[in-house]
Amino acid sequence: MTIIRFPNEFAWGAATSSYQIEGAATEDGRSESIWDRFSKTPGKVEDGTNGDVACDHYHRFRDDVALLKSLGIKHYRFSVAWPRVIPTGRGKVNQAGLDFYGRLVDALLEAGIEPYVTLYHWDLPQVLQDEGGWARRPTAEAFVDYSRVVARALGDRVKKWITHNEPWCASMLSYWEGRHAPGLKDYRAALAASHHLLLSHGLAVPVIRAESPGSEVGITLNLTPTEPASPSAADHDAARHFDGYFNRWFLDPLFGHHYPADMVADHIAAGHLPPEGFTEVKPGDLEAIAAKCDFLGINYYNRTVMRSGKVPEAQNEPRTVFLAPEKEWTDMGWEVHANGLRDILTRVHLEYRPRKIYVTENGASYATAPGPDGRVKDEKRLAFLRDHFVAAHRAMESGVPLAGYFVWSLMDNFEWDRGYSQRFGIVWVDYKTQQRIPKDSALWYRGVIAENAVSVP
Ligand code: FCB
Repeated sequence: MTIIRFPNEFAWGAATSSYQIEGAATEDGRSESIWDRFSKTPGKVEDGTNGDVACDHYHRFRDDVALLKSLGIKHYRFSVAWPRVIPTGRGKVNQAGLDFYGRLVDALLEAGIEPYVTLYHWDLPQVLQDEGGWARRPTAEAFVDYSRVVARALGDRVKKWITHNEPWCASMLSYWEGRHAPGLKDYRAALAASHHLLLSHGLAVPVIRAESPGSEVGITLNLTPTEPASPSAADHDAARHFDGYFNRWFLDPLFGHHYPADMVADHIAAGHLPPEGFTEVKPGDLEAIAAKCDFLGINYYNRTVMRSGKVPEAQNEPRTVFLAPEKEWTDMGWEVHANGLRDILTRVHLEYRPRKIYVTENGASYATAPGPDGRVKDEKRLAFLRDHFVAAHRAMESGVPLAGYFVWSLMDNFEWDRGYSQRFGIVWVDYKTQQRIPKDSALWYRGVIAENAVSVP
């Protein structure tokens, strides 16, 4: 048994998001979000479900805070639902919706748990989508106003802010690949959306700092180390393109570079951008996007191995994603590859030098259900987390300024287009009774936190 110790101040946490857990979809003045609309459109969510009730967290938040406390988790990342706070997208604040988050924050602080607030985890008010959503610049301005409202209300107590969760998903996956709300398949709109998301982040950073003095502000990206499937030039080029599409398109502008020139050229060549280039980018935008942040959040789930060529399953991206077949997979169909976490952390540290990094999400979907004794023996999730913690530790040994790690997710929840079929929680949720049962991985995690160390056989 080897014992791997973490630094004293290391922040062990768990993460959730509003639409995935809250339920109470029409309560206290909450308006429709793009995920309400999308999930109720037949054929969009695999099992035909939606977030109307989810984990009923809106009503059970005190129990959930007690659950966090019982697991020894002292850092909790959650998101605020914009349609609760400003149901009309811009303008009038809905105090009842805002108050919910005030109560949640107070309950967390009382339990000795530090809140990490994500302002946008994909539940855009549908009214803003009706105007074009993130494909249009006024949505970025509306986001800044919404951020000001939330930071003003909670900023005395919340000292960790994340503007956006995974702008790649909120743009490319949602406006181009069509798999997430609003379900469009329009590359130009996706590129515009990516820019307006990043711009809204950059414009919100100083606003949040002003409203929440002494706080730390950052953004969360989902990143995937990308490798070619073979040494061939074609596969290398496929990997370059995918890395540009997924990682560099967001990292480069956030860290003061332009959008990657090779990608702009690819998009012009493919007709996704006009010959003049990325015309949504106005003077001053890139400076705004590159606002200095206190940390970068990284969500890591898997690596990507690219092979060139066109296959029917990958119609949207001209290059094929090809994952090493000999490996192990989670129920999501995602390859288990812990070293990819070390790779991406190290790369981001060396190439972009963020002041500080948090792993704001990492975890695995396994359906393991309670046995006859009521226990959930999710050994695979436990091993997954352990191996990823070790990989993160290795990255820290080589100098990566990793300050904390948030397990996705505190509890099973509504997994977007996969509905309730995928269970990422370290806590089991019985959706009929809303009973929560900490899985073996949660009990093990409690030990990791208590020891601030991971034991590896
Ligand atoms: C991430 C999302 C999170 C969850 C996990 C599995 O992309 O941020 O909400 O769905 O994937």
